[in-house]
Amino acid sequence: MRKGEKGILAVIAVLSVVLVGHKIWQLNTEKKEVDRGIPFYSAASSQLEVAGSDLYRRLECKNCHSLWSVRDMSANVPAPALDGIGSLRDEQWFYAYFSAENPQAILPTRLKKMYKMPSYAHLSEEERKVLASYMASLKVQDWYLEETKKAEFEKLTGKPYLAAGKTPQ
Ligand code: HEC
Repeated sequence: MRKGEKGILAVIAVLSVVLVGHKIWQLNTEKKEVDRGIPFYSAASSQLEVAGSDLYRRLECKNCHSLWSVRDMSANVPAPALDGIGSLRDEQWFYAYFSAENPQAILPTRLKKMYKMPSYAHLSEEERKVLASYMASLKVQDWYLEETKKAEFEKLTGKPYLAAGKTPQ
C-alpha cells in the first residue's frame, strides 16, 4: 500500500467513526423526546367522541383547522390548530363562542372575512353543547403546555419565563 492510499484510508476510517458516533448520539437524543410521547390526548367518553367527531366532520371544521394532524391542506387557512385546546379554554367559553353571532367579538382577528371563524349560532342548542364539550375534551399534557408557554413568553418578551407559582428572586 502506498503512502497516499494509507492517508486516504485513515481519513475514511476517521470519518466513519465520526458519522456512526453522530448517528448513535442522534438516535439517543431522538429517543429521549419520543419517550415523553405525544402530548395531546382526548378526555372524551366514547359517546362524546362519536357525537363530537361526527359534528366536526359534517360541519367541515377541518377545512380550516387541524386536529390530530388532520386538515384539508388545499384550503390553506391560517386557523389555529385545535389539538389541546381544551387545556386552554373551558366548555362554557366554547359554548359562548359557538353561540355568538359574531365570534370575533370574543376572539378578535385580523384575518380576511373568508378565513374567519364562522358563527355557529344557527346550530341547535344540543349540537353547540356537543361541540363545546368535545372541544373541552381535547387536552394537552401539562409539561408540553408549560414548554409552549415558556417558548412563547421568551419569544415575545426576551425575558426568562418563571413557571406558575414561582415568584421572582
Ligand atoms: C372558514 C374557516 C373556519 C371554519 C370552517 C371553522 N373555523 Fe374555527 N376558527 C377559524 C379561525 C380563522 C379562527 C381564529 C379566530 C378568527 O380568525 O376568527 C378560529 C377559531 C376557533 C376556535 C378558537 C381557537 C382558540 O385559539 O381559542 C375554536 C375552538 C374553533 N375555531 C373551533 C371550530 C370548530 C369546532 C369548527 C367546526 C364546527 C370550526 N372552528 C370551523 C376558522 C374556521
